Amino acid sequence: MTVQVQVNPEKIMQVGMGFWASKVLLAANELDLFTLLSSGPKEVKQIQDALGLHDRGIFDFLDTLTSLGFLEREGVLESAIYSNAPDVDVFLVKGRPAYLGGMLSMANNRLYKFWGSLEEALKTGAPQNETKFSDKPVFEEIYKDQASLHEFLGAMSSIQMGNFLALAKKFDFSPYQTLCDVGGANGSCSIVIAQHHPHIECTTFDLPPVEAVANGNITAMGLQDRIKASSGDFFVDDLPETDVICMGNILHDWSEEQKLILLEKAYASLPEGGVLIAIENIIDSERRQNAFGLMMSLNMLIETPEGFDYTAADFNRWATKAGFKRTEILPLAGPTSAAIAYK
Ligand SMILES: C[S@@+](CC[C@H](N)C(=O)[O-])C[C@H]1O[C@@H](n2cnc3c(N)ncnc32)[C@H](O)[C@@H]1O
Repeated sequence: MTVQVQVNPEKIMQVGMGFWASKVLLAANELDLFTLLSSGPKEVKQIQDALGLHDRGIFDFLDTLTSLGFLEREGVLESAIYSNAPDVDVFLVKGRPAYLGGMLSMANNRLYKFWGSLEEALKTGAPQNETKFSDKPVFEEIYKDQASLHEFLGAMSSIQMGNFLALAKKFDFSPYQTLCDVGGANGSCSIVIAQHHPHIECTTFDLPPVEAVANGNITAMGLQDRIKASSGDFFVDDLPETDVICMGNILHDWSEEQKLILLEKAYASLPEGGVLIAIENIIDSERRQNAFGLMMSLNMLIETPEGFDYTAADFNRWATKAGFKRTEILPLAGPTSAAIAYK
């Protein structure tokens, strides 16, 4: 008996041509359309004048955003009035607390073109970003000018903010007094934890070019008495001795050998009963469900010489090897989890 399987090309077309939709959203974010519309609905002419957009394409651009659900519209063509969809108004307006546009900016300005060389990365195993034609390490390349340093750090905090908030709410920080966020970028993780847990003193530790940005954010939040920004190289320097060590999207940047070195360094600097928390897009054990985590790992192929994302079983194996007693997974926002190791 032949079983008839009904198939259709919808998913193939949606994903295969998905870069059209992706680029429309990235362009709208880059042009800051959503921040413009946050002050209220606008006519086409007002949008065009404010953003400097040509007549050709303007209606197709705005109506594509409408059909994709990012804008709402009353009227049509010359009589149309556009406003932000509710999710866009929360997540893509500059200056709002849950702003995600920093990540989309970096996706537009860096990742979009680097992912164009995915086949080359798959064939050679070599990164396809700024380091492709340079012998400098990736963070040195990104931090060599202030614009790309700020864009990168903004991208990191915008993609992780929901996870830091979820961690602050879901993890029991009451037994711990001190925390170090290793590779803490602009200090966002320490800021969120310090705001939610007034008994904790934090250190945010990163490379020297990042320290001034972290200090600026900490001071802006009035937390300079409870959060210290310090700098160094986590492969060279000892990690500060604290009860909790956080590593947000750190381990995935590195090879298995380097991941183990970082876990061993974390273990060495924690007291008995201390805890390491890795905040990453932990891949499900069957490697079938967490498509975002799997693509994040491909992103590490594009961005780093040897980095990759990993499963809970991988984390448990490495943490056990480093000496930790036990590990657990705490789901955070969307595809991200905290992989937690107890000393
Ligand atoms: C992928 S970002 C993650 C940032 C942040 N933890 C988060 O969750 O968004 C990696 C961070 O590690 C820092 N980093 C890279 N190499 C480092 C090193 N050798 N020593 C200290 N920090 C380093 C980078 O500057 C960057 O802030």
